[in-house]
Amino acid sequence: MSTFDLHHQDCVRGMARLRDASVDVVITSPPYNLGIHYRKFFDRQDRTDYLEWCRTWAIEIARLLKAKGSFFLNIGAAPSNPLFPHELLLELCDFFTLQNTIHWIKSISIEEKTGDIISRGHFKPIGSHRFLNDCHEYIFHLTREGQTPIDRLAIGVPYQDKTNIARWSHTRGSDLRCRGNTWFIPYETIQNRAKERPHPATFPVQLAEWCIKLHGVTRVQTMLDPFLGIGNSAIAAQHCGVRRFIGFEIDETYLAEAKRRLEST
Ligand SMILES: C[S@@+](CC[C@H](N)C(=O)[O-])C[C@H]1O[C@@H](n2cnc3c(N)ncnc32)[C@H](O)[C@@H]1O
Repeated sequence: MSTFDLHHQDCVRGMARLRDASVDVVITSPPYNLGIHYRKFFDRQDRTDYLEWCRTWAIEIARLLKAKGSFFLNIGAAPSNPLFPHELLLELCDFFTLQNTIHWIKSISIEEKTGDIISRGHFKPIGSHRFLNDCHEYIFHLTREGQTPIDRLAIGVPYQDKTNIARWSHTRGSDLRCRGNTWFIPYETIQNRAKERPHPATFPVQLAEWCIKLHGVTRVQTMLDPFLGIGNSAIAAQHCGVRRFIGFEIDETYLAEAKRRLEST
């Protein structure tokens, strides 16, 4: 039986009430300070103030994370501000070690051997003489000491060349290899944004599910998302049978939607 503690509260205050080293996995996506139109949060602060604020919530996460815990931080950039994810990461490396860098690929085009080009996924097209369409974001896997074990094959993929299964002893005869750090996870196609995805900056449930599985489902007793939005991390926790989930969100409309979606899945 899972419990979901979803709070209408500022996450720094909310996290301050939680015990040291009580959380196994944190999966979150904070506001990026790139001018997204949230209902309540003002997403265009002075850069120094913003980074200082990020340090306040990161310190709390560092305090709450168990020694072998995982903090998966989803961060995107704007074409005109490409260094932002790395600037934030450098701040957070005062408290964490960067163990893995994962690229969340939202859309990709691949040329087949036949010469055909197939395109998959969705992205927001931009009109520009300078910038490419932005089709990816980062997931920084941050841990205390870079020594957190992961379950690579929990999100593994079959070998393309099956002869590798016998050739490499580490496969132990299994047709499953590590997926690597490029995760193609498209947004679901929706017809009505206001009804089906009433939030301007979400990640897909599958993204959080893969993070939980990579950490190891059996090693996740307690999971936290300080910036809950409409609850995609909570739904992933529900799918994976995580025992206890804690979420904070300052906007009651997003929080209500998260609760509604949890109850309906
Ligand atoms: C990028 S969105 C997260 C979206 C979420 N991952 C999802 O898929 O729905 C960031 C969220 O943080 C919320 N937020 C901003 N400041 C907050 C704070 N101090 N405490 C809690 N939530 C906050 C915003 O209202 C916004 O919904």
